[in-house]
Amino acid sequence: MLTRRHFIATGAAALVAAPSILRAQSKWRANPFSLGIASGDPAPDGFVIWTRLAPDPLDQHGGMSPDAMPVAWEVASDEGFGIIIAKGEAQARTELAHSIHVELSGLHPDRPYFYRFIAAGQRSGVGHARTLPLTSAGPRDLRFAMSGCQDYQSGYYTAYRHMGEEELAFVFHYGDYIYEYGPDSPAVRQHSSPLISSLDDYRRRYAQYKADSDLQRAHAAHAFFMTFDDHEVRNNWAGDVDDDDGAPPAEVFRLRRQSAFQAWYEHMPVRRRQFPAGSSLQLYRGAHYGNLAAFDFLDTRQYRTNQPCGDGYRVACAEVTSPRAHMITAEEETWLARNLQRRDARWNVVAQQVMMMSLDRRWESEDAPAKLLNLDSWAGYESQRRRLLARMRGLNNIVVLTGDEHTAYAGLLDDRDKAVAVEFVGTSISSDGDGQDIPGWGPKFMANNPELKFINNRRGYMTCDVTRDEWRTNFMVVDKISTPGGTLSKRATWAVAHGEPALREV
Ligand SMILES: [Fe+2]
Repeated sequence: MLTRRHFIATGAAALVAAPSILRAQSKWRANPFSLGIASGDPAPDGFVIWTRLAPDPLDQHGGMSPDAMPVAWEVASDEGFGIIIAKGEAQARTELAHSIHVELSGLHPDRPYFYRFIAAGQRSGVGHARTLPLTSAGPRDLRFAMSGCQDYQSGYYTAYRHMGEEELAFVFHYGDYIYEYGPDSPAVRQHSSPLISSLDDYRRRYAQYKADSDLQRAHAAHAFFMTFDDHEVRNNWAGDVDDDDGAPPAEVFRLRRQSAFQAWYEHMPVRRRQFPAGSSLQLYRGAHYGNLAAFDFLDTRQYRTNQPCGDGYRVACAEVTSPRAHMITAEEETWLARNLQRRDARWNVVAQQVMMMSLDRRWESEDAPAKLLNLDSWAGYESQRRRLLARMRGLNNIVVLTGDEHTAYAGLLDDRDKAVAVEFVGTSISSDGDGQDIPGWGPKFMANNPELKFINNRRGYMTCDVTRDEWRTNFMVVDKISTPGGTLSKRATWAVAHGEPALREV
């Protein structure tokens, strides 16, 4: 067990000393940066840098004593740290699992930067992040990636290893960073603990996931815009409602949500604005990539009404069209509606979690009498979905980005039988295992839903190449994740011309 006296020898002066001295003075028995480093929420003047000290990631407190520990940080304009342009010190406190979040500011727009941390003589690896262009700037192009759904038990994070090699402005994460379940059997690799519900449980689960070296590579290479979906708390939770039959009362579920949110904050490179307040957390927010693209990152989970008709894939009951049912609050809807109307961005990007297309899921119950809806998606909240799509009509610059499905799709969003936007659905990094290009149910699903243009059920991520006149989404897939070392390929590219909500395979 590490104690404070191990670190007394290393004062502030040692923290910025030469590398050889740092190594000699290191008092750690194991690497305190075992969970890697990360950056997030880039802006034109800076971004967040994150780490958590955890020499023994699965032990109580990550192997740390309860004392606070100073962590020095450095930012440089070159990878060799020849020119350090900012440095400082933050306290890693036990109340936040010895995580630190530093919000950098005063940096130049649209530039690469490098960062690292030093704790008690031990230096972290080097991370890279880019600031965004000024909001008033007119960048000609943007390349970013999106990912999510990374069930540790389903396979290796090979896709993240490949993503770490990409040249990207940033990554959008659509949630399911962890899964809450106990060990599966069989599993490619197993969760170390049973179903999680306490703060300590969630912390250890994040520690197990974040110890993965492929995941760490992606975080070290790119700044992420993090959101969450359901599994960061509990499968298919909705607002104050747990998923289960026999679900606890709302006030009891909120305690679990509070623990889950605290652990989420502790492990994500997010700003102080996302610091939890009791059992709530401000998740939805925006970002501008110059005047080329504006992003609205939604929160489709925390404030929604319970899934209608008993959840699952079912024929719609009356609740589906209830005007009281909502996926996002009135406040979030107003914020989004205002943003969609803006004229200062060429593309409007709605970056969120669950599918917005209302598709017929009749591939399992062939004899269902009517369309089967995924009631956990926007299809279960039809009044608000309709209002949103009606607002998109005539704008002709909207791209919706989605996760959750563990299958990649490209499709059209219709308002009264007219396409008003395109939707790209990401697959998963690992959830549901190796997969296949066209699943057995794929052809029937495509035939039932003419708005769907593309399907792929392999694991991977998407990259998006955005210019003023065209948006291209590349579906990057890995051939196998059940063993390490899978190879990456670009399975398809689908393009959208600015001004015309239609999809074309390139
Ligand atoms: Fe998922």
